[in-house]
Amino acid sequence: MHPVKFLLILSALLLVITPPLHAKPITIKFSHVVAKDTPKGKAVAFFKQRLEERSAGRIRVRIYPNATLYGDRAALTALRSNSIQMAAPSFAKFTDHSPQLQLFDLPFLFRDTQHLHRVLDGEVGNSLLQKTSIKGLHALAFWDNGFKQISANRPLTTPEDAASLKFRIMSSKVLEAQFRTLGANPQILPFSEVYAALQQGIVAGQENTLSNIYTKRLHLVQTDLTITNHGYLGYLLVTNDIFWRKLPDDLKLIVSEAIAKTTIFARSIAAQVNANYLKKIESSGKITVHHLTPNQRAVWQKKMRGIYPDFYYVIGEELIKKSQE
Ligand code: LMR
Repeated sequence: MHPVKFLLILSALLLVITPPLHAKPITIKFSHVVAKDTPKGKAVAFFKQRLEERSAGRIRVRIYPNATLYGDRAALTALRSNSIQMAAPSFAKFTDHSPQLQLFDLPFLFRDTQHLHRVLDGEVGNSLLQKTSIKGLHALAFWDNGFKQISANRPLTTPEDAASLKFRIMSSKVLEAQFRTLGANPQILPFSEVYAALQQGIVAGQENTLSNIYTKRLHLVQTDLTITNHGYLGYLLVTNDIFWRKLPDDLKLIVSEAIAKTTIFARSIAAQVNANYLKKIESSGKITVHHLTPNQRAVWQKKMRGIYPDFYYVIGEELIKKSQE
């Protein structure tokens, strides 16, 4: 073959098999600590599908669930250094970065999910999103899990029942105060260590949503679970400045659209996912589930709400009061 002809064919072939440089997909590594079959796990899967579809393959999302890549603390460090590009830790995990987010850990702050969403979507939520977008992080959205329940290795129907027990908590001063006011001993532990800590008796109890309890099999290493719905567990979806600044504007729009759609999706499924796990926990026969009467619940509420004034300074009295309206 004539060398010129050969070169022409070769370059034509190369054009076909080598995509132009700008077509190389951008990868978003998304690390989280819970199981796939939870409100967060499902939300991340939905986000991946939506974003990959809408970006026509220009963005790829790689999901690392169950703390397989990073645990609670390491995820935020990895995010800041752009080793991962997205995470959705629960509010309590931001205590060092953004102490005001502990607002959402305050026990019995929200009457129900509608009240919670009004706060998240309103002035309070917006100002918290802005305040959290500092020190290398860029806050994107609030995603739902649900209300927490308390379990232990003894029945807990009154706040006094929790006295002197050691409880695993997430890293939040509010949660620490919440258990101290019960006369209990709170101990901060990463989510990935809760099952072993309960099994080995390092802690005697814990609080979490039903989806987190069931998917991490915590009901198998506790004797009693009380449906208190005392506190909310939700997530802040965050990326980092390095990634966000470099992302072309048209892709930023596509990412933002996928996030907005995922937020709606997460809200539409979270309560039902948790309700389904209650049925599974009850029918497992492995743990006794206690449902409080309205009067019993009012006693827990009165006791736990007593800690609010201790956080007027850190969170802001106005923010707390505005959220209660
Ligand atoms: C926990 O540590 O209990 C939760 O933050 C886990 C999660 O991400 O839902």
